[in-house]
Amino acid sequence: MYRSNTCGELRISDVKKQVTLAGWVQTVRKFGAITFVDLRDRYGITQLLFGEELNAQLDAQPLGREFVLQATGIVSERSNKNPNMPTGDVEISVQSFKILNKSAIPPFTIQDDTDGGDDLRMKYRFLDLRRNAVKKNLELRYAVNRSARNYLHENNFMDIETPFLIKSTPEGARDFVVPSRMNPGQFYALPQSPQTFKQLLMVSGYDRYYQIVKCFRDEDLRADRQPEFTQIDCEMAFVEQEDILNMFESLIKRIFKDVKHIDYTEKVERMTWEDAMWQYGNDKPDIRFGMQIANLKSAFLKGGRIQATGELINGAGFGVFDNAETVLAIAAPGCGDYTRKQTDELTEWVKRPQIGMQGLVYIKCNADGTFKSSVDKFYPEEKLKAIAAAAGAKPGDLVLILAGREERTRKATSELRLEMGKKLGFRKDDEFKLLWVMDFPLFEYAEEENRWVARHHPFTSPKPDHISVMIDNNPLIENADKYLEHPYSNIKANAYDMVLNGNEIGGGSIRIYQRELQEKMFAALGMSEEEALHKFGFLLGAFEYGAPPHGGIAFGFDRLCSILGGSESIRDFIAFPKNNSGRDVMLDAPSTIDDKQFEELQIKLNLKG
Ligand code: AMO
Repeated sequence: MYRSNTCGELRISDVKKQVTLAGWVQTVRKFGAITFVDLRDRYGITQLLFGEELNAQLDAQPLGREFVLQATGIVSERSNKNPNMPTGDVEISVQSFKILNKSAIPPFTIQDDTDGGDDLRMKYRFLDLRRNAVKKNLELRYAVNRSARNYLHENNFMDIETPFLIKSTPEGARDFVVPSRMNPGQFYALPQSPQTFKQLLMVSGYDRYYQIVKCFRDEDLRADRQPEFTQIDCEMAFVEQEDILNMFESLIKRIFKDVKHIDYTEKVERMTWEDAMWQYGNDKPDIRFGMQIANLKSAFLKGGRIQATGELINGAGFGVFDNAETVLAIAAPGCGDYTRKQTDELTEWVKRPQIGMQGLVYIKCNADGTFKSSVDKFYPEEKLKAIAAAAGAKPGDLVLILAGREERTRKATSELRLEMGKKLGFRKDDEFKLLWVMDFPLFEYAEEENRWVARHHPFTSPKPDHISVMIDNNPLIENADKYLEHPYSNIKANAYDMVLNGNEIGGGSIRIYQRELQEKMFAALGMSEEEALHKFGFLLGAFEYGAPPHGGIAFGFDRLCSILGGSESIRDFIAFPKNNSGRDVMLDAPSTIDDKQFEELQIKLNLKG
């Protein structure tokens, strides 16, 4: 027997028991003839007391940090209790010990506030994982996993595995490909998601499927993106959009309850994509706070409302506004007393390359009802007052205005809103707000290719009353500049995203389940009949054998965990993550392969450049 107890479980009620613990040496503290050792395992830390009688033995085999130690002794009450540790009332008076294994000096301290930098910790991830902070994240991840599985099981969902070696059909991100030795010159792809398999399972009659599954996407990485990540992937047959929204908002609420002990009883808010873009400047708004965007000049969406105050800022001789495609504003509550230094800092912030604006205009709405602005020269007080009112500002607020090309200005204003939200304390880690964003456009226009691409994926169904628009119109875009006038730009999808605190944590749709409509969809995306058959013949074929109406959703499991854990980076919640260049620095992967492997694969490298 290596141990009778863990290092996290002994309490005052265990005093006088003889126990054996095994774990890692966290610290060694020598006080004259006695030595204290903190012994750590996954469950906690227990203090060991080595008395005088063990001195000679300790001198002969000195303990070092991270040594693996087994110690037997009697649980005793501590004279100097530590109320910050669950085991802080007791210590083990060691009778005998054994070093099970030595350790080299670790390259960084195994503590919450470690001295190890990111790269070093990733290289020695197995040591980093010993740290409490990282362990807590993995525990949270496991709790989310368990909660999701319990809920889905209780609701009749069945976990069915789907293959990882599949066919390359890039639509969306790039595929990772794997050469086949047995089929020289041919490649598998790793799945970007199990999308087509889960749809086939619906055709097979498994009407409630789920899988907590790895997905692989060769895309540029960010804090919330990894090349391999995990989804809670779900699909249901015989459902309408409403059924899916209800089933899966309850899943997330259950996770809140099980993992965070939060009763999220209110109905999850819903917002159309158009409103999200219009009011918040992006499709995953953080609705923990208001500060909605006001359009001071033109509508930026087709079909969007032209603000009644459309001419407010035109023609005053201020070229930045007069000539801009769009002028957008937010009102930062209570910031009307910002100093010159503070407004200068905000101006610098919007000029950063990531934001890319030329400058920032502000109007201070003084508490006494007067106004002061950086464009006083062009706008008399009356006009400033009208602009401030259009931006929804109250006395004491600061109106921040950005002008320029529509898309960039919209993005920048959205970022500025989030930044001000953060500065003003409106974005608290422990406050959670869910949102469904719905009615996405079915298509997006890809300028470089002059064709339509699926905004979600090609299996998403149009809204029922938009199906005829798709069937009756030729997808060809004759005038690229006027693609917005093409009927396809108005088609809305039966698609929905779940947003949590301004992050897209899940997305899904009601699917196409008739061959004819699916063929039309492939054609709309510029695929020839042969290409569609070559890539998706299996699915089109399956649709001929009694495919039920179906739909589903996939949640970004890593993202959900990181938000629940209050971190911006999903890497903190993945045991062995990749760095921002897609490398595993511990394994040093990716790497070259042996000549023999190339030979077997009948592949010759001919790297360009
Ligand atoms: P989608 O592509 O929207 O949908 O992905 C679902 C969710 O997965 C998360 N996610 C990621 N997380 C980490 N790293 C990445 N690279 C990454 N990419 C996506 C996001 C996202 O909301 N098959 C469809 C789902 C469906 O229609 O049912 C799909 O994969 O949180």
